[in-house]
Amino acid sequence: MVSLILCFFFSFLALFLLHRMFKSSSNSAMKKLPLPPGTIGWPYIGETFQLYSQNPNVFFTSKQKRYGSIFKTHILGCPCVMVSSPEAAKFVLVTKSHLFKPTFPASKERMLGRQALFFHQGDYHSKLRKLVLRAFMPEAIKNIVSQVDNLAVHSLQSWDGQLINTFQEMKTYAFNVALMSIFGKDEILYREELKRCYYVLERGYNSMPINLPGTLFNKSMKARKELAQILARILSTRRQRKEETTDLLGSFMGDGEGLTDEQIADNVIGVIFAARDTTASVLTWIVKYLGENPSILQAVTEEQQSISGGDKLLNWADIKNMPITSRVIQETLRVASILSFTFREAVEDVEYEGYLIPKGWKVLPLFRNIHHSADIFPDPEKFDPSRFEVAPKPNTYMPFGNGTHACPGNELAKLEILVLLHHLTTKYRWSMVGPQTSIQYGPFALPQNGLPIRLSRKT
Ligand code: HEM
Ligand SMILES: *[C@@H]1O[C@H](CO)[C@@H](O)[C@H](O)[C@H]1NC(C)=O
Ligand SMILES: *[C@@H]1O[C@H](CO)[C@@H](O)[C@H](O)[C@H]1NC(C)=O
Repeated sequence: MVSLILCFFFSFLALFLLHRMFKSSSNSAMKKLPLPPGTIGWPYIGETFQLYSQNPNVFFTSKQKRYGSIFKTHILGCPCVMVSSPEAAKFVLVTKSHLFKPTFPASKERMLGRQALFFHQGDYHSKLRKLVLRAFMPEAIKNIVSQVDNLAVHSLQSWDGQLINTFQEMKTYAFNVALMSIFGKDEILYREELKRCYYVLERGYNSMPINLPGTLFNKSMKARKELAQILARILSTRRQRKEETTDLLGSFMGDGEGLTDEQIADNVIGVIFAARDTTASVLTWIVKYLGENPSILQAVTEEQQSISGGDKLLNWADIKNMPITSRVIQETLRVASILSFTFREAVEDVEYEGYLIPKGWKVLPLFRNIHHSADIFPDPEKFDPSRFEVAPKPNTYMPFGNGTHACPGNELAKLEILVLLHHLTTKYRWSMVGPQTSIQYGPFALPQNGLPIRLSRKT
């Protein structure tokens, strides 16, 4: 037994040394390259405190002013390189995406499910991505416009005459749209159950990952298990009925895809996670910007009034014929840049522009810095949808990312935003309540207190 262990030990050692020799000979030239400029901060704590103790954008912007569009820093115990030029973002996300894998804290992976597509790279990732795109491409979501329309009408009716927290209500709307696009007509049966579990799950998402009875994390993990059980029930009911559907679940369950129930559950929960708060915070920002810019609101309202032919439901042709409203959405995505950046990790030593990005370092493309660069978008803090009358240059405008992990839900997101805006602007008026000056981060940028508004039907 002992000899067996020793034998293993020595073969590992030999392999390890060989690996090192091989690596150092092939990489010695690269090892001599300088690291990008910047400070690393104190060991472990690094510059995390600075990043989290102020508006994160101030941190990024002041670093960029000082060091240029590529610099190193240290956050959450990880050395990282931040990049903020269109060229560097393209390098990391598109042309050399195989050298940069997605990376998330282990506790988040556990909570959402390790098999969710955004944690993966390579064959498994591209297979799942194909299945997600199949359900969310224009040809597929064309068929659900009227159902999205119904959800929007119902949401707005329930807010009529009320003081509402815009973000909270938009979360409910985006959740309902997500469930409908995942489960189709079956969704309504499970909506309340799924909602209850999902809300417990998300409360633990930003908690300390301590799995002891009673902690938020523990409750969250329990809700995660319950969600998987509900999904298992939905899957078995569908298998018995044997009918084919074009919703996301149908796409995942397709013959020959060979996904396990666990893989399906992880990806369904992952899609809800990717779809809800993102869309809800964009909608919240739009309500704020329209409220602050009466002439833009007027232009959007007129465009929407020209579309509404009485009380008929919207169709896909209507959706594709809303240029002014679409530019308002584009400009909101730019100014608010709700996903300020994304995370990758270098899978090997990489050279970029004469600098070394060492293997294992995190790499963060800073979308917000690119979207707020005065060279690319003159007067960048100004909300001006007309700037999108001219299409932006490649890799200067990436609200949905780019490359292998770019957002497969972007068409659905735009659809549900347009439909809600149609009914909101043609039938309702609203006013913002309380101070609206500050921004909260958690993790997406949001107007103060989720933007309380009072909404009522136009007379
Ligand atoms: C306005 C709302 C949305 C914004 C701003 C947004 C933005 C993004 C961005 C920037 C990424 C890429 C992240 C990266 O490269 O690391 C992404 C990925 C993703 N998004 Fe969205 N998203 C939105 C709505 C949605 C919706 C409605 C869905 C689903 C229906 C969705 C599903 C996904 C999925 C599954 C991924 C992972 C793709 C992959 O890793 O291959 N998103 N999103
Ligand atoms: C909650 O904590 C207890 C004690 O550590 C553990 O046995 C249990 O598995 C945890 N629950 C979940 C769902 O992880
Ligand atoms: C993504 O990158 C490709 C290749 O550089 C480019 O053609 C495309 O325009 C980019 N997309 C965006 C949204 O910038």
